[in-house]
Parts: sequence; C-alpha cells; structure tokens
Amino acid sequence: MNVNFRACGLAVVFFIFLSACTDSDNKIKSSEWREYLGGPDRNHYSMLDQINISNVSRLIKAWEYHTGDSGQIQCNPIIVNGVLYGITATMQPFALNAATGKELWRQRDSLGTTWYGNLRGVVYWEQEEDKRILYTKESWLHALDALTGKPILTFGDSGKVSLRTGLGPTAEKKFVISNTPGTVFEDLIVMPLRVSEGTDAALGYIQAFNIKTGKLAWVFKTIPDPGQPGYETWPPEAHKNSNVGAANNWSGMAVDRKRAIIYVPTGSASFDFHGGNRKGSNLYANTLLALNARNGERLWHFQFVHHDILDRDAPAPPNLLTVTHNGKKIDAVAQVTKQGYVFLFNRETGEPLFPIEEKPVPPSDIPGEEAWPTQPVPVKPEPYARQAITANDLNPHSKYVNELEEKLKKSRNEGPFTPLSKQGTVVFPGLDGGAEWGGAAVDPGGVMYINSSEMAWLISLNETATTDSKKMVNPGEQVYAANCSSCHGSERKGNAASGFPSLVNLNNRLEKQHVLNAITSGKGMMPAFKRLSDKELSDLVAFLYGEKPGAAAAPKEPVGNDNDNKPPYSISGYTKFLDKDGYPAVAPPWGTLNAIDLNTGEYKWKKVFGEYPELSAKGIPQTGSESYGGPVVTAGGLLIIAGTKDRKLRAYNKDNGELIWETTLPAAGFATPSTYEVNGKQYIVIACGGTKLGAAKGESYVAFALPD
Ligand code: HEC
Repeated sequence: MNVNFRACGLAVVFFIFLSACTDSDNKIKSSEWREYLGGPDRNHYSMLDQINISNVSRLIKAWEYHTGDSGQIQCNPIIVNGVLYGITATMQPFALNAATGKELWRQRDSLGTTWYGNLRGVVYWEQEEDKRILYTKESWLHALDALTGKPILTFGDSGKVSLRTGLGPTAEKKFVISNTPGTVFEDLIVMPLRVSEGTDAALGYIQAFNIKTGKLAWVFKTIPDPGQPGYETWPPEAHKNSNVGAANNWSGMAVDRKRAIIYVPTGSASFDFHGGNRKGSNLYANTLLALNARNGERLWHFQFVHHDILDRDAPAPPNLLTVTHNGKKIDAVAQVTKQGYVFLFNRETGEPLFPIEEKPVPPSDIPGEEAWPTQPVPVKPEPYARQAITANDLNPHSKYVNELEEKLKKSRNEGPFTPLSKQGTVVFPGLDGGAEWGGAAVDPGGVMYINSSEMAWLISLNETATTDSKKMVNPGEQVYAANCSSCHGSERKGNAASGFPSLVNLNNRLEKQHVLNAITSGKGMMPAFKRLSDKELSDLVAFLYGEKPGAAAAPKEPVGNDNDNKPPYSISGYTKFLDKDGYPAVAPPWGTLNAIDLNTGEYKWKKVFGEYPELSAKGIPQTGSESYGGPVVTAGGLLIIAGTKDRKLRAYNKDNGELIWETTLPAAGFATPSTYEVNGKQYIVIACGGTKLGAAKGESYVAFALPD
C-alpha cells in the first residue's frame, strides 16, 4: 500500500508518472476492489473494517446474482465505482450494481460457442471518460466499454486481439487461451497464457498489448532464441517449438508501478513429465522473472525448479510486500509454490532474504531423462505442506490401509522431487500443491496467509503407445492415447475425485455431437483439441463408441501431422493416491491454513482447514480438505475464505487462526472472495460455481453484509 502512496507523491514531481498516479489514487480509495486479488500487489488485502472480529458472526446474505449457466466459476470479481464486474461459467462478462446485485449489462454474445474457460477475473482500465473492461475468451483478448458492455471497436480487430499475436508462426494452430486476468501498467496490459502441456505446446512468451489500440507492445521470450541469455540451458533447437514449448505464465503477475517492474512467475516447459528432448535447466521455465514493465527487458530472475518434470508450475501470482529484515525495511516479492515453499526476495535486486540451498534430489530411471541433480529449497520459512509420506503416514481411517501400504512399497517415493517412473511415483506435495491458483494473502504487517492442500498423487510414466501397427491397430485408440488418456485414464475410467469423468459406455449416455463439441471446444478444465484432423476426430469418436474405425482408417496411417513429436512417454493419468472409497491415502490433515510472518520466517499459526462432513459425523476429528481459491484478509482482523468442497464460507481471526463464523453457500465457492464498500456498507462477495472435486454445480455470486 505504501508503495502506491509514494508513487502518487512522485507523480506530482515527474508527471511522466501521471497514469501511475491514477492507479495510486484508486488504491487510496480503499473501499473498492479495483484489481484482481485486490490490487497490483496481489495481496488479497482490504483496509475495510466495518465487518470485523466482533460482528462478523452477524453477517447475512445481502444479495445473490444467478448467472443461469452453471459450472465452475473461479472468478475473483472486481468492484469499481459501485459496479461489480465478473464473468459467468460460460464466459459471459457482466456488470452488477454492487450494492444490490442487479444486472447492469451482460455480454451474451458467446462467439457462437458455449465456452467454459474458468476465467479468474476481468480487468478495469480508465483514462478520463474512456473506461474499459478487458477479458479473454478462447484465444482472444477483448475490450468492452465498462459502462455499456459493448465492444470497443477501435481496439485491435473490431474489439479483440489474438493472444497468439507475438508467439510466432508455430503458434498458429496451437491451443492458446488465458484464464487469469492480465496486469495493467500504464497503457499496457501484460497477458498470462494457458497452452498445452504436451509436445504440441505453443511457446509461452510474455506479451504486452497497448490497451488503447490493441497493438502488441513487447514480447519476452521465455524460451530464448540463439544469442539470448538462457539459450544455453536448452537443446539448440528448442526455441523452434517443434516439440518443446510452454514455460508460460498462466497464474498471473504482480506489478510494482513505482519501480515499473512486473513480476512474472512461469510454469514448466512442455511436455511436462518427460524432459528427454529438453535436456538442461530450461530457463525461463518455473522462474520468477522481474521484467521492466515498459519494454519487457529482464532485470533479474530466479528459477524455482530446474528442468521440471513434475508439473511444478508457479501456481499463483507473487505477493509484493514490505518486510523488516535485519532491522531494515525492505520491499520484497514473495512467491508461493506447489511444492510448499515460500521464496522471498528483495524486490529490486532479486537477492533472497532467507538463504536458499541447492539440495540433491533423486535421479530418474526413465531412459532419455536427465533429471536435474539438485533443486532449490529455502532455509526459511519451513514448508507449509508435508514433504514426504512413509508407511506411518497412511490414512488411519481408511479401510484399505494394507492395500495402500502395498502400493506405497511398490512405488518410487523419495521426497518431493522423486521423478516419475514406470512402477509409479508418489508425488507429494501433489500436482495441485501445496499452494494453487488461489494464491496467498499478505497483510501490511508482512504476514502471509496460505491455504495449502496435502494430497499425494500416484502417477506412472509409460512408453507412449506407438504407431506400430502390430501393437495397436485402432487409430482412434492412438488418438485417444496421445491426447486424452492423461486425464481420462488409459482405460477411459476417468478419475472422479480429480474431476475427470469416465468415458466408458458413452453410447448409452451421450450424443456424439455432445462429445464432438467437448473435444473441439473444450469443457471446464478440459482444453479444446482444435488441431485434430477430421479423420482423427472420427476415428476417436468411433473408438469411444466401440465402433470399427472407418474404411479410410488404414492402420498404418500416421496419426496427426506431428506424430514424430509425441513424447516417448506419457503419464498414466492425473491420478491422486486414494483408497477404494476415494479418501486420500495420506493421513490427515488434507488441507491447512497457514499464517507465516515473513519478517522472521516463523509461523504465527497453522490450522486444519476444510471438512468431510460424513467423516466428522462418524466422530473422526476434522480432517481438512483440498481447497481451490484463496483467502481475503482485512483491517477488521479477519481472514475470509471459501475454497472447500464442504460449501462453507468461513471467517477466522487473522491473528490466531480461530474460526469465528461460517455459513453454507448455495454451491462450493472455488474462487477467491472480494470485499468492498458501497454507500457506507461493506460487502463480501464470492462466486459459487461448485463443480471441482466432484462438488455439485452452482451458478451464482453471493454477497454478505451486516444487517441494517
Ligand atoms: C487436461 C485434462 C483433459 C484432457 C487431456 C481431456 N479431457 Fe475430456 N474432460 C476433462 C474434464 C475436467 C472434463 C469435465 C468437464 C466439465 O464437465 O466441467 C472432461 C469432459 C469430457 C467429456 C464430456 C463428458 C460429459 O459427461 O459431458 C468428454 C466427452 C471428454 N472429456 C472427452 C475427451 C476426449 C475425447 C479427450 C481427448 C481428445 C479429452 N477428453 C481430453 C479433462 C480432460
């Protein structure tokens, strides 16, 4: 907060900073929630205190906005000038009167398709009378008039620009979307991207667009070209994107507008689970980049995972905060990770504020793989998620402990960086963390609040089904193995606990057209498969419906144009390590809330977070649960969070972690709440879309306030 305040002071002197001043002014209007996660620092913090520890238990529902189109909603809505802006499950942006929930406009034009994109928020930008909402849908960044919801036709191509603009020719037919809002710096918006996690991934470059014109302003290449620093950390051809890609920022960014530095955490390079064709440490994948926000030049960087082969993407935007370290106030940047570590750096120099050790980690036994021998681990704070599972750490409430123990014995299980293996590897912390996209809150005292999941996953890495006609004669099965089995499983049984539906017996359940739509347009967290040829599609659908492949499907015909690109290995599935009843193999807690003082690196408190009501009913102590969506922290002394399948919205005392209030939402709120004030009244709002973790679907935004 201080930072923005000072930026405004500066602006008076150097009016080149004028637009930064506008932002600072806005921030000073603490009654709003102007930007994703509360501000450019992404601290999920509000200075409002009307709702506080002494009265939060009196909260009542103020309004509920029914979107009508149920499904996952991960959106953290923004509130500007008394208007709430959000998006529905089918990606229709809308504006509501933030005091009443009454719809002001809704952009119902859905580009001809119903598209589930799980967009985490929209962006507001203004310059005098020009007020805009920017949001993404499919591979486009759209600009709307914030007052009417109508497209701004002077922006890009009649109101939209392609997210592929700066990615080069190889991106043309590749999967490129964005489900996290961009970050505004002056007239620029810097865009997160989601790309494939396979060998067909687009390059995950960082792109800045001009908000007035839609023109590409700068590009930072996360997989460097020859001659650029970092090029030497890849095979010479990697930058050509023939079978290596990604290293994208999908989880969002934070910006220090006074310093003109944007902090960009990236994900792994693709293919995510076998790096035989990308030997090297792979800069700038899994890296925190500090870039000059004006031109994209790299100022400093730190890589959290070298040569990632466990999908350990940086899962959330970093937090910008000020800490006292060795008696000195330091503007810092903190990054949470899936593996359970918080990394803390001097925001300007990149110097770590707590030492970081390179620890030896186990080698891979998969041919062609060269796992990196060490990985960085901060000495402080202690990890917020357990780092290992032994036979003593199995779920004592499971009826199947012996089976779990057998499975554990058969698997590779050597700590948080155990490479995947043929026999199966326990991935713990799991593929969804530790921390996930909800991110962490930070209060002005430098205390960080993180909801962390504790879920072990069990995944094997097997040779990809080859095109050898003797081994596999059904071409549809080949398409399936290459594109679908990672989520729906090699036997098509899916994984209900992870939200991947079974595709067995489709002929009894789903229209072919519905299945084709899911494949070509995507659905929920399932990406669209736009590059499959018509023949591949028909073979695939024939396979799913147990039909013989069409006459055109000669067995030896190669599948797709990029058959040579298939990784030699593929994973058994995004599978959690569960018992036969679907409960985690690992002993509780399965989810925790953590308050870490980043001045000292010490924990203030740690609590079990989330509940399985049916286990509580049996008298089992609170187990905690996985969570998606982050906390909000307020000057009223509260930590407010939903995020769990048990449909609760909860308020804690942020100083000691004591639960003060909880209520049941219409559907699980897998999103980060927002808080704001209109006409002297403070509201807390949360999107309730359910759907994840097998929760019932929902279709509303619910706001709470104190009674009049
Ligand atoms: C990255 C994971 C992932 C991959 C890869 C994937 N899917 Fe899905 N798929 C999902 C998820 C998650 C859903 C559930 C979406 C929802 O309802 O929100 C789903 C839903 C579906 C559905 C709809 C089921 C229903 O009941 O409506 C079909 C059909 C389907 N997938 C087929 C495929 C096929 C065929 C492929 C390969 C071309 C594929 N999927 C690849 C994750 C994936």
